[in-house]
Amino acid sequence: MFKLAKTIAALTLFAGAGTVAAQNLLVFEGIGREATANEVTAWDIDVRPDFKGLPKGSGSVEDGMNIWDAQCASCHGAFGESAEVFGPLVGGTTIEDQKTGRVASLTNPAQPQRSTLMKVATVSTLYDYIYRAMPWNAPRSLTPDDTYAVLAYMLNLGDIVPEDFVLSDQNIAEVQDRMPNRYGMTTDHGMWTVDGKPDALNTACMSNCIQEVVITSSLPDFARNAHENLAEQDRTFGPYRGIDSTKPPLAALPGVNYQPVVAMAATAGPSAKQLFSSNNCAACHAAASAMVGPSIKQVSDKYKDKSENLAMLEEKVKKGAVGTWGQIPMPPHPQISDDDISVMVKWMVTGS
Ligand code: HEC
Ligand code: HEC
Repeated sequence: MFKLAKTIAALTLFAGAGTVAAQNLLVFEGIGREATANEVTAWDIDVRPDFKGLPKGSGSVEDGMNIWDAQCASCHGAFGESAEVFGPLVGGTTIEDQKTGRVASLTNPAQPQRSTLMKVATVSTLYDYIYRAMPWNAPRSLTPDDTYAVLAYMLNLGDIVPEDFVLSDQNIAEVQDRMPNRYGMTTDHGMWTVDGKPDALNTACMSNCIQEVVITSSLPDFARNAHENLAEQDRTFGPYRGIDSTKPPLAALPGVNYQPVVAMAATAGPSAKQLFSSNNCAACHAAASAMVGPSIKQVSDKYKDKSENLAMLEEKVKKGAVGTWGQIPMPPHPQISDDDISVMVKWMVTGS
């Protein structure tokens, strides 16, 4: 959006100068430049299933454990089992699956959750994704050797490689032959090729068809407050917003620990709450349970009787902070005005 606005601004400038013919504007002459070889290299990091693009390097399960404990466990659990921040990464696969290349538990209705190792067909995808995107709070901070190591550890957690294993560009293809769901991926469906078979069982309706299908999902009341207000936790892009899972008021529901938060929300001016969600604070801070950062309730419990701390907290929001609640850092927010930060911090601490 910002880029587009800039381009339009540039175009307007050209047009205003009156020296550039309209035709030239259409080819964007004078705007942009060829990417340099270094820029292309920096972006060109994809690793394909045939391992094209895989950098040379290696890493042991043992080194991977240290990286995992320091940089991954806080979100994914010591054994990759946590469902707190994202679905579990490890679990649900067996040694037998490694022989068949199909994960049996995927079709077992008793299996409570689907883990990454149950689903992923190609080990290259794991390498690519971790190197590209993890840890979530510092993507692209791992070296290729770190990535091999932490991936080796993850594979060891899933019993796919032994404890003394050293994963490298030389042996990763052998690991592929042990991936539990390596034959579980299909491209033989209508989502892949337009002339392929649709993956739905229904026959096409040709007359008297339903005009409009409304697809909805809902949570039973007993589960509705399990992850606090879904409406506040969305990413800001994409068309779908989460429902306001605080309504009707949660105090009426079994999750009693939500009561103080509901009370807090009721007394807060709308602006503090709005600022909190429009500035994305809610992506990391939920009302009553810790997510990436401490919950609002935790912050309030810690500081509510000490108003002299407000300035210190405002400073932390502005400049970023780490170490008070754990090893995950809060990023700085230099773009938010001091006044807005002050409103939000006061709201978090005092509820008004
Ligand atoms: C601050 C929290 C956080 C930390 C730390 C973190 N992750 Fe993640 N991880 C996430 C989230 C959130 C997702 C889902 C992201 C998405 O779908 O956009 C994710 C997704 C993943 C996935 C993909 C799972 C899938 O099935 O799509 C892998 C693999 C993974 N993380 C590995 C790691 C490794 C390895 C580390 C440590 C180097 C790490 N993560 C550190 C939060 C974290
Ligand atoms: C990417 C995640 C993330 C975002 C976004 C985020 N925070 Fe934080 N926040 C954290 C983490 C992690 C901590 C704990 C830092 C620490 O341990 O020192 C924290 C701590 C805090 C604290 C307590 C500091 C202390 O010393 O006790 C306040 C207050 C706070 N955040 C407010 C905000 C506000 C206001 C926003 C929105 C402008 C915001 N945060 C956005 C992750 C985040």
